[in-house]
Order: sequence, then structure tokens, then C-alpha cells
Amino acid sequence: MLDTITLERLYQRVRQAIPPVEWPVFADDIAAILALKQARNAVILAHNYQTPEIYHCVADITGDSLALAREAAKTAARTIVLAGVHFMAETAKLLNPDKTVLIPDLHAGCSLAGSITAADVRLLRQRYPGVPVVSYVNTSAMVKAESDICCTSGNAKRVVESLGVSRVIMLPDEYLAQNVAAETGVEIVAWRGHCEVHERFTASEIRSLRAEHPGIVVLAHPECPPDVVAEADFAGSTAAMSNYVATKHPARVVLMTECSMSDNVALEHPETAFVRPCNLCPHMKRITLSNIRHALETMTHEVTIDPRIAVPARRAVERMLAA
Ligand code: 13P
Ligand code: SF4
Repeated sequence: MLDTITLERLYQRVRQAIPPVEWPVFADDIAAILALKQARNAVILAHNYQTPEIYHCVADITGDSLALAREAAKTAARTIVLAGVHFMAETAKLLNPDKTVLIPDLHAGCSLAGSITAADVRLLRQRYPGVPVVSYVNTSAMVKAESDICCTSGNAKRVVESLGVSRVIMLPDEYLAQNVAAETGVEIVAWRGHCEVHERFTASEIRSLRAEHPGIVVLAHPECPPDVVAEADFAGSTAAMSNYVATKHPARVVLMTECSMSDNVALEHPETAFVRPCNLCPHMKRITLSNIRHALETMTHEVTIDPRIAVPARRAVERMLAA
């Protein structure tokens, strides 16, 4: 088990976010998880929306969906624990068919991934013959298997432009599609899926924040509605927002995205003041230290994908990584 000096060093990373009274509850699970990772030859990939005790104390790799997919493709570990939502674990499995990929809670879904089925994609293809299908990674493996190529919020513009066509089907996020269409000359046929976290932000909320905090820098995720993105100073993936704070050191910032993201970035940038409207993703919040520990103790829940789905789905993800 971990010595008290190592645990104290970990606490120093998160002490601005976790009160001392709560730490002993976390410390027990953290010590167990770090030992289990070694015993199981496991890595923990954690999305930027995971809570600080996961993100800063047990994760080996953190990042946006694109970084997690890239790192999943590179890891030498035998076991991957995906601290994030189910489509992220499926993407890691697609890129590592011979490894064990675990998700601590099988019900960690996503409103975007849940908004479209493989049958819907087949109908779209019938309706728009010959138009390529670009699927956001926030989709099931079955939907990816019906797609030509995947994209994330970090590379959507590049992926769409890489196809060299005048019209694409981009699904399932209507707002991401509209935001990408505004940046490219490509006509985009969109689906009506929305992220239940980002659709709640409004342009008038940004105007109120600017009135209340003059000079505040507003960063928005491209899953936000287009009028929110238009009102923001910058729009980009979770990694791009984090990078903006790291490189531009704004005095005061607001991230129009899931609220643990601000907690994590604020811990790394005490020079920046964060205004935090809190929209939580209930799916991301299903992942906890205690179910990560349980996942490693019991080697559950293992993500499996039927090879008939995995082969075409992997092709769409790998084509994205090569774009
Ligand atoms: P990123 O790829 O920008 O991290 O976004 C993933 C996600 O689920 C945003 O809601
Ligand atoms: Fe899905 Fe939105 Fe949650 Fe991201 S924040 S996992 S897009 S519901």
C-alpha cells in the first residue's frame, strides 16, 4: 500500500478542490487503485470531465476524446480502464482488440450516442446516396460501423475537409455540424442529436456573465448551440480549451462545458480565476474512485464488440486517426 508521503503529495495536487475532511475517504481508494494498477498491468485513461480525485490522483493519461483514442492506440499495458463514458471505452477496445478494456459503470452513456442507431444511418444513406457519412466519436460501435469516417470535436473541421467533397452527412450532433459548417465551405446534412449538457448554455447567459465580470474570456465547446459559439471568444474541444488557458493565461475565464473540467484546469492554473456555471454530465459522473477500484478488483465490466461490427467500426476510427 502507498506510504503517507506519496498520499500527501497527491493531496497537495487537489487540496484546492477537496476539503481535508473528505480526503481520507478518497485516500483509501486511491492507494488501493494504484496498487491494483501494478498488479493488473493496467492504465487508467480519464476524460477531462472526470472529477479531480480521478483526474489528478489515479489517471495515467488524461485528455479529450481524440487524445484518449490516440493514447489507447499506443499503450503497452494489458488492461485499459476507461474513466469516461461507454463510447470512449468502445473506441479504446476497437483500437486494442487483444487487450482487456474495462468501464467501471456500464450505464455511463451519452445523450448524443443514444440519439442515433445503425438503422438510422442506413436510412440516411438511402436518402442521400453517395454522400459520405462522418460520425462523431460520441456514437456506438454499431453506428461507427455504418460510417465512412469518425471525427471528434478536436478534428471535425479537418476530417470534413479531408474528404474533398461539397456535401457530407455529419451525425449525430446538430450543433457541432452547424458549427463546422460555419467554418468550412462544405454543405452538411445534420442529425437532430444534442448533448444534454451543452445544449443548456445560452447566448444571453454569456452576455450576463460579461456584464457581471468585465473582461472575462469565454471559451465554449462546439457542442454548444451556434449562437453560444458565436458569442464566445474561442470555441474548441476540451483539450483546446485547456490549452488556451495554459498558453494565454487569461486573468478570468469561463468554460462553457461540463463543470469538472473547470475544477481540473483551475488546479493547474492558480493564476487564472474561473467563473463556474455548473452543468454536470450525469453519465460522466457515474464513474467514481470506488467503482474504478471495483473494476480493477473484479476485472469488470469488460467491453466486448462483435467482430462483424468491430472491423468496419475500427476502419472508420483508424481513418480518422490518419486524417
Ligand atoms: P471532447 O472530445 O472535446 O473532450 O468532448 C467529449 C465530450 O463528450 C464533450 O461533451
Ligand atoms: Fe455525452 Fe454531453 Fe456527457 Fe459529453 S457531456 S458524454 S456529449 S452527454
